[in-house]
Amino acid sequence: MVTYNAELSAYISHLFAPEDAILRQIRQRASEEGLPQINIRPEEGRLLQLLAAALGARRALEIGTLGGYSGTWIARGLAPGGHLITVEVDAHHAQVARANFALAGLQEMVEVVEGDALQLLPGLARRGPYDLIFIDAEKVNYPRYLAWALQNGRAIAAHNVFRKGRILDREDRDPAVDAIRQFNAALAQAPGWIATIFPAGDGMAIGVRQAR
Ligand code: DHB
Ligand code: MG
Repeated sequence: MVTYNAELSAYISHLFAPEDAILRQIRQRASEEGLPQINIRPEEGRLLQLLAAALGARRALEIGTLGGYSGTWIARGLAPGGHLITVEVDAHHAQVARANFALAGLQEMVEVVEGDALQLLPGLARRGPYDLIFIDAEKVNYPRYLAWALQNGRAIAAHNVFRKGRILDREDRDPAVDAIRQFNAALAQAPGWIATIFPAGDGMAIGVRQAR
């Protein structure tokens, strides 16, 4: 049996998530500026865009901007008049991301907030609640981000929840791997939420608060 692999990833991306020139330029600039090449994959970006559209999202929040690649996918799924706030701790990443959002014509729609997310989130809660919260930052803090997101979001997505398969290795007690295990268990068991992992790329957790 063929399971998910690079060929199937390419098949999905080619058919459902082809990058336009802007997305390619965003990756290109990020690479030229020396940012780590750890963007989400196109098919993961398409999932975020789909989620935003399915939710009719108008307010989204991203933790971990990097060069603005995922933020561009999310912003493109928002309803007219929608707004994305994206938090980035690295000043150079934030500067590259701002240039990329301008390139994408999204400078009015996307606000890059610079600083440490754990310090900024209490203030950002007052600007919520958010239709969609995307988490893609340092892994040790995922459980803390989740606790906040469950309180302040209607839907949640999170990147890298497989940690390249390391979550399955019981002997791997790396703090970041343990944090992802904790994150996944907490999201799976969150009362009133429906969640799963979309097994593309490095695993994309998705969850939505069930309407009551
Ligand atoms: C790595 C990949 C990611 O997508 C991320 O958010 C952080 C780190 C990595 O491969 O190291
Ligand atoms: Mg990631």
